[in-house]
Amino acid sequence: MTIRTATTADITTIFNIEQKCFADAWSLDSLAGFLNEKGRSVYVAEEAGKIIGYGVTMQVVDECEILRIAVNRLFRKKGVGTLLLERMIRNAAVDGAKLFFLEVRESNTPAIALYKKLGFTKSGMRNNYYTNPVENAVLMSKCVTRDSLI
Ligand SMILES: CC(C)(COP(=O)(O)OP(=O)(O)OC[C@H]1O[C@@H](n2cnc3c(N)ncnc32)[C@H](O)[C@@H]1OP(=O)(O)O)[C@@H](O)C(=O)NCCC(=O)NCCS
Repeated sequence: MTIRTATTADITTIFNIEQKCFADAWSLDSLAGFLNEKGRSVYVAEEAGKIIGYGVTMQVVDECEILRIAVNRLFRKKGVGTLLLERMIRNAAVDGAKLFFLEVRESNTPAIALYKKLGFTKSGMRNNYYTNPVENAVLMSKCVTRDSLI
């Protein structure tokens, strides 16, 4: 499996996974726009030429938000999410990010487990933050220094 930066040719597949994973799915145009947006990075996980997952970050100076991470249902629980997130964090840290943060639905056990596995801890809550369905958001964060990267 390889993790690489997404290109325009990947956007339709990313959009297909996005629609299956999120009630508030981003549009095809939004996803395509992200590729050229300053500070935003889009990554894909590819296996035998097939895109099986993707992740999106937004970095402003030394802060980086994990905006999305999703893996095709058929390829979950095989370490794809871990590899993707590790790469997203590493690349942003090399670019100077020190604080990583994200929001996740309170009921999203697999995602929360993934974030905890990679060292994120709960930093707060936003009540009724999500719609469709209404749900609390758990805020999680983690600090990384360039020196701590292997
Ligand atoms: C969250 C998600 C990206 C995880 O991807 P994945 O490739 O299955 O993750 P991994 O196989 O690397 O698993 C990483 C860890 O997460 C945990 N985990 C993964 N799936 C889990 C599940 N169904 N239940 C409980 N824990 C789970 C485990 O602790 C696992 O570590 P381990 O294998 O060492 O025990 C995937 O479930 C997904 O795409 N979900 C839908 C989209 C989403 O909700 N994204 C996050 C919000 S933006």
